[in-house]
Amino acid sequence: MAKVLVVTSGKGGVGKTTSTAAIGAALAQSGKNVVVVDFDVGLRNLDLVMGAERRVVFDLINVVQGDAKLSQALIRDKRVDTLSILPASQTRDKDALTPDGVARVIAELREKFDWVVCDSPAGIEKGAQMAMYHADEAVVVTNPEVSSVRDSDRIIGMLDSTTLRAKNGQKIDKHLLLTRYDPARAARGEMLRTEDVLEILSIPLLGIIPESEEVLRASNLGSPVTLSNPESAPARAYFDAVRRLQGETLEMSVPSERRGLFGKWFKWRVA
Ligand SMILES: Nc1ncnc2c1ncn2[C@@H]1O[C@H](COP(=O)(O)OP(=O)(O)O)[C@@H](O)[C@H]1O
Ligand SMILES: [Mg+2]
Repeated sequence: MAKVLVVTSGKGGVGKTTSTAAIGAALAQSGKNVVVVDFDVGLRNLDLVMGAERRVVFDLINVVQGDAKLSQALIRDKRVDTLSILPASQTRDKDALTPDGVARVIAELREKFDWVVCDSPAGIEKGAQMAMYHADEAVVVTNPEVSSVRDSDRIIGMLDSTTLRAKNGQKIDKHLLLTRYDPARAARGEMLRTEDVLEILSIPLLGIIPESEEVLRASNLGSPVTLSNPESAPARAYFDAVRRLQGETLEMSVPSERRGLFGKWFKWRVA
């Protein structure tokens, strides 16, 4: 049965869009049929990160309002054929997303895909509520700093009260994804420790994504990091997170870049 997953946080700039692209791609790379949906109306970043911006013709709002069919708006990824994106509109009003229209589009997506991964806008207002309303599961993206943790706490409260599942008395599975984690700064005490974040938010840890230049490089290339550089530290962290999302139990670690002698030799050999 299809699963709807929302990637949410409250705070902006913590890595939601990056994580939506990487998680969606990693799920598709494992053979699942995946669509990533951009609910960040007005900003429209997901298509850029996915490298699909020049292929956008119709968007989520067109489909919600009945001006385009879903099949006209979905863009199939050129690298992984089980991955699609439903882009957001850059120009339209956020209020164009009506609850009934969104419900209809989500129901249609559930029939076509194994995973529907929704990228949420920042904040705790209507846009974020709309993105999480139909979710079965949530990835709460959090940076190891006080303001991000506080906003994640508020989002967890919303997930437990304002979603369709909550209203039906069902539980929504929540997973914590700690992103932009810098082990050196953590060791110097400049960031919150993982244990402290876990103690405050008390939801299970899905993964720890290290701060890495590879993420910026991937986004400039228009590619999820799991596709542009699958061996990189953030990509390996996302692959592990996605395996946990699918029920595997793996030891928790923060991947680091492989810069051993062998790595250099290997690079030299293939150059
Ligand atoms: N693990 C990471 N390492 C380095 N930079 C990151 C990482 N994750 C996200 N970023 C950068 O942080 C910025 C905000 O990320 P984004 O995914 O757009 O956040 P959000 O969608 O929550 O606003 C982007 O410039 C992105 O490239
Ligand atoms: Mg975003």
